[in-house]
Amino acid sequence: MALSSKKHHREESLLELERKAWQDAGLVLSTTSNEACKLFDAALTQYATWANNESLGGIEGCLSKLKAADPNFTMGHVIANGLELIGTGSSVRLNKELDSAMRTMMTLSKSQPLTEREKLHVSALDMFASGQLPKACDLWEQILQSHPTDLLALKFSQDTYFYLGYHIQMRDSVARVYPFWTHDIPLSSYVKGYYSFGLMETNFFDRAEELAREALAINQTDAWSVHTIAHVNEMKAEVKKGLEFMKETETNWKNIDMLACHNYWHWALYFIEKGEYEAALTIYDNHIAPRCLSSGSMLDVVDNCSMLYRLHLE
Ligand SMILES: [Fe+2]
Repeated sequence: MALSSKKHHREESLLELERKAWQDAGLVLSTTSNEACKLFDAALTQYATWANNESLGGIEGCLSKLKAADPNFTMGHVIANGLELIGTGSSVRLNKELDSAMRTMMTLSKSQPLTEREKLHVSALDMFASGQLPKACDLWEQILQSHPTDLLALKFSQDTYFYLGYHIQMRDSVARVYPFWTHDIPLSSYVKGYYSFGLMETNFFDRAEELAREALAINQTDAWSVHTIAHVNEMKAEVKKGLEFMKETETNWKNIDMLACHNYWHWALYFIEKGEYEAALTIYDNHIAPRCLSSGSMLDVVDNCSMLYRLHLE
């Protein structure tokens, strides 16, 4: 869990310190429930690392337990609604449940004393939900100016810049907070991974690969850093190197459920590049199609369509 290194050894005070850990990190959460803080942390960690942890009940399980632990915890509503809006691309216009959840969050946020940071999180989601994505990013940037280690603001803004195709902003946003993510901060190696992706998207391939490899040296299951290297090899037309890298690292990222399908898609792309369509199709049959069927996630659906269409064009 994101703040686990701040836990202390005395079991009986574990929960209290979980809540205090957020305070110590300068990221106050307005709830009296330690359990809610722990579950907020668990959901955020899974989002930031692209991996549902089944022993924690996955992101969905954590979000429902979070709601039960403190139904009035505004940041609990923020992470749940944000993941629905940003993580799945749902819209309040088409998703009535999400529309009502957003209204509940807005009403709740006005009924209780919140920190400035929490209020900005609420406003950013409100902007996002009304389609004002650049304005939502501005609000997350405002949070990051005073709270550079707010991982939720960082990840929401990274994902939104990505949707907007704002590559330079995506890189520079994480570049600004990067110096604050020292080694002792949990998940700091993942921030290296976010930065490396921004560098790759703005054509700094060597620096991007260097940072992604640093991140992987700390945590080899960081599937997003694997993904950055897959892109670097693609951009540099290093097909052989790309194929070898995917094969060598497969066991590290194949269980990172939110990203594995996309990394397999990159792997198949190298085979298409080489004209080895059967090999690409084998990856599709063994890894891309089954993952799409079981997860139904939008990213997996996109990878599925894209692979089939590319093969069709060939
Ligand atoms: Fe990609």
